[in-house]
Amino acid sequence: MKIIFASQNQGKVKEIKDIFSDTSFEIISLYELGNNIDVEETGKTFSENAFLKAKAVYDIYKEPVISDDSGLVIEQLDGRPGVISARYAGEKATYRDNNLKVLSELKDFPEPHKAKFVSLALFFDGKNRIEVEGELQGIIIMEERGSGGFGYDPIFIPGGYEQTIAQLSFEEKNRISHRAKSFQKLKEILTGRFSG
Ligand code: IMP
Repeated sequence: MKIIFASQNQGKVKEIKDIFSDTSFEIISLYELGNNIDVEETGKTFSENAFLKAKAVYDIYKEPVISDDSGLVIEQLDGRPGVISARYAGEKATYRDNNLKVLSELKDFPEPHKAKFVSLALFFDGKNRIEVEGELQGIIIMEERGSGGFGYDPIFIPGGYEQTIAQLSFEEKNRISHRAKSFQKLKEILTGRFSG
């Protein structure tokens, strides 16, 4: 079965293709479809935003779609950046701008700065809407370290580790990440239902 992954984020595309590589589901990215649709994330929750993305793509192709909405939730910042993680320092913010904004907001708080990554993975085929969540707990450190991954990876150390996610290998990140957990669960559900 073909499933379109409703994301323009090449980092995520690589992760999801890897997770589904041992199934017969064929994950197709928007990039491969030559589609650069950019859905406005106006929802107040990860679930609302994931559905906005999936529905917009489903309405175009009428094919099964998976999507994800994810973000960083920092305890001392009352859960921010949360659903606005991608544009925390502004609409055109780079990953670095967002990291620096988080670090400047945390500078007067005592360490450890407890945080978690959250991923809401969603499947929609016009009839069925399936949603599952994954989390990765850790702490924010006050400087950027490493060059792998994307987004807030250089300032996030997962529980039980000494390196940031940006210092881990692609395989290691994809074993422990919030998205790995949510999409592994989704993969199991889809395999059970559609024998992938
Ligand atoms: P989304 O594409 O709307 O789900 O936005 C996700 C945003 O959350 C990204 O742009 C990053 O800022 C952040 N984020 C989500 N997952 C990760 C991750 O695995 N590493 C680092 N940052 C992430």
